[in-house]
Amino acid sequence: MATEQILILDFGSQYTQLIARRVRELNVYCEIHPYNNIPPITPDVKGVILSGSPCSVRDADAPMIDLAAFRGQQPLLGVCYGAQMLAQTSGGQVQPSSIREYGRAKLGTVDLASPLLHGIDPHSQVWMSHGDTIMDIPEGFRVIASTDTVRVAAFDVEGEPTFGIQFHPEVTHSLQGKQLLKNFVVDICGCSQNWTSESFVESTVAALKAKLGDGKVVMGLSGGVDSSVAAMLIHRAIGKNLYCIFVDNGLLRKDEFEQVLDSYQHLGLNVKGVDTKARFYEALAGLTDPEAKRKAIGKTFIDVFDHEAHLIEDVKWLGQGTIYPDVIESVSVKGPSATIKSHHNVGGLPDFMKLKVVEPLNTLFKDEVRAVGKTLGIPDAILGRHPFPGPGLAIRILGDITAEKVAILQEVDALFINGLKKYGLYDQVWQAGAMLLPIQSVGVMGDERTYERVVALRAVTSVDGMTADWAHLPYEFLADISNEIINRVKGVNRVVYDISSKPPATIEWE
Ligand code: XMP
Repeated sequence: MATEQILILDFGSQYTQLIARRVRELNVYCEIHPYNNIPPITPDVKGVILSGSPCSVRDADAPMIDLAAFRGQQPLLGVCYGAQMLAQTSGGQVQPSSIREYGRAKLGTVDLASPLLHGIDPHSQVWMSHGDTIMDIPEGFRVIASTDTVRVAAFDVEGEPTFGIQFHPEVTHSLQGKQLLKNFVVDICGCSQNWTSESFVESTVAALKAKLGDGKVVMGLSGGVDSSVAAMLIHRAIGKNLYCIFVDNGLLRKDEFEQVLDSYQHLGLNVKGVDTKARFYEALAGLTDPEAKRKAIGKTFIDVFDHEAHLIEDVKWLGQGTIYPDVIESVSVKGPSATIKSHHNVGGLPDFMKLKVVEPLNTLFKDEVRAVGKTLGIPDAILGRHPFPGPGLAIRILGDITAEKVAILQEVDALFINGLKKYGLYDQVWQAGAMLLPIQSVGVMGDERTYERVVALRAVTSVDGMTADWAHLPYEFLADISNEIINRVKGVNRVVYDISSKPPATIEWE
């Protein structure tokens, strides 16, 4: 289905995804494409944004594009490097800044008559992050905003809807950045701001119906947000022809298999729960190396899933919960080609399954997936869940895996997670869990000396899991949980709290 959209060309800036987030917050659909792999410009493209870049336009091998394909035909906004490229390729001068331009700055003069700056406060705070600066603008270009130190903070071009800005409107420190982007995508590009989770559901379900017809889809569910929302969308389109498989690998949280299966059934999904705990424990027996454990789990999952998929007659499609950040990666501007990684949500299902892939969420960011899930009536208990790794408790039990260790860790983890919920802390942390350490420590209970297991609790705050800080949980909470764990979980006599951030540590211990 044709969707009105903004095309964002990525030159490798760390902020490119943020531009897309801000545009979508305006209910306007947009896509990021690498500068060296530009899709055909269809009539749905209402405007183009050129991102920033870690490169300099003065470098011999700087990423460049032929602007003739859209300049003057579509509204065009260059941000930072994008603006410098616009200026330089039209005969302007870009030079290294004499002073470092990084951080907050205030606009000084602003041409309020320019449609790009409509409603912007003349002293608005903006965020600068550049080593080069535009010294001279080409003929026909007009300076429309300056700061004390940057004369060409923004420009427009006579007779065409082309604009450039030296600062970053997508960063929240540019306090009116969203207004500026709104001026561009709504007033200048004429986008109608009708892209909402409701409209997404409606158009996606219609597109899935057309694409899948009466074809059957098989899909592995994990209990997580992405696979659940993807399954519900496909279910809306094709009902019982979606066959969901939820595998109990024996490495899930306490009671998770039964509870999640129950919520899926309540949602009307055609879901089969398969208990394969014993197979996974067998495959893991004696393995201590984290990567070997991951491999064994991945392989066992594929075997189980492949077997189950073959029980469904004539299945043609494999449903996956892949989301947009898995599909796009900032381009490697120095590399030979765009680094688009392929991603398999269900632990890398192999090509030999000969299934065509359907990924209804592959254009959405995580919080957009949650909004769509809400529109589809998926309960908060699923939508608000912390991320949980595919290999589950196996990478939280350091050393080899046994059913007994899993049972101990499940108890500890359940007390910790339920405690976070009881204290109203669950939604404040990004992810939390417990690790069972491969050591024993001395303790004393009553008059008895004990020599038992040690568990570590881990809770982190994060935006995307790439970096994380340890959550500063209240001491009273930690004291209560520690007491509860030691009193209630047999075999554990010591609880420690992990205060490492990522980097240099990681979220999981293995
Ligand atoms: P780390 O430990 O790398 O974790 O800081 C970042 C995020 O990824 C999750 N994680 C995994 N998820 N398979 C998964 O599906 C894995 O092997 C795996 N290892 C880590 C982790 O839980 C965190 O959310």
